[in-house]
Amino acid sequence: MDDKKTIFSGIQPSGCVTIGNYLGALRSWKQLQDEYNCYFCVVDLHAITVRQTPAELRKRCIDLYAQYIACGLDPEKNVMFFQSHVPAHSELSWLLTCNSYMGEMSRMTQFKEKSKKAGANVGLGLLCYPVLMAADILLYNTDLVPVGADQKQHLELARDLAIRFNNSYSETFTVPEPYIPKNGARIMSLAEPTSKMSKSAENQNAFVSILDEPDVVMKKFARAVTDSDNKIIHDVQNKPGVTNLIEIYSACTGASIQDIENQFLGKGYGDFKKAVGEAVVETIRPIQDNFKHIVQDKAYIEKCFTEGAMKASYTANKTLAKVQRKMGLASRKL
Ligand code: TYM
Repeated sequence: MDDKKTIFSGIQPSGCVTIGNYLGALRSWKQLQDEYNCYFCVVDLHAITVRQTPAELRKRCIDLYAQYIACGLDPEKNVMFFQSHVPAHSELSWLLTCNSYMGEMSRMTQFKEKSKKAGANVGLGLLCYPVLMAADILLYNTDLVPVGADQKQHLELARDLAIRFNNSYSETFTVPEPYIPKNGARIMSLAEPTSKMSKSAENQNAFVSILDEPDVVMKKFARAVTDSDNKIIHDVQNKPGVTNLIEIYSACTGASIQDIENQFLGKGYGDFKKAVGEAVVETIRPIQDNFKHIVQDKAYIEKCFTEGAMKASYTANKTLAKVQRKMGLASRKL
């Protein structure tokens, strides 16, 4: 074993990967992969907490895995796999569910928002979703979890569950830390800039997919909701649309907010939106080029995710066996 620390993170195959997912998460994964032992998972079991069309979901899973590779994640160096291929995730999730409280689950912001949308029949999976996420993380003795700002509360819950388990049954889990990037941690919707950009939004103009063609990207930014005073100023309260565009531009180019305000002083929204669109097109162009090749090589993708699941299972099963023993279940002999 080397002395590198461990990273775990995942994305749900519940829509196309947005620039929010890329700037908030995937890009950090790529930057961290040399320094850490990394587990990058396609969290397919999380996606089925809301009803999916099976054929579409199956395709999205493979496409998402191919996008991980296209974004620069190396399947040789990292453990990259589908969550459902490692049954220990579901099993640990149940064991942790038995150590979780209704109150803490129903307080989760994402549960409250999603259950509002679901109406009268709120699925139980939505309530238990953060426990499965904690299981994902805790199975691998994860030190660091690179995510966007929206996952911070779920991360805190994973930490609480780890600490609670360690206190009740003796030291078992590493207590994970979040890693939230300085730039791009919370990209907002282009149509409704007070809500986060989401891959499952119905309005196609609300998000930009990392696979959107350049002319589509440019059109989406041209239509992005702003305000009427035509000043390129960072002001979250009063100018959420423009502020979001400034943050996207900053995340793509590395320019500071101050420099961007200076650069566009006296210019109008038309010019600025064009510049933001172009910066995004340049950021995602290499990913699209890679994706076109990788996605055609089904045999390679299959080999990578099969080997990934085998490697992940080895570590996951060891942790699971330890937890089962500590909770008093008879040792498995098969
Ligand atoms: P998901 O699939 O919603 O999002 C994947 C990653 O993208 C980040 N993200 C964003 N970052 C910036 N701006 C946005 N608008 C934006 N939207 C999404 C998310 O923070 C996330 O890092 N529950 C998780 C998936 C998950 C997971 C895990 C993550 C399951 N198990 C274990 C880490 C560790 C989720 O729904 O992500």
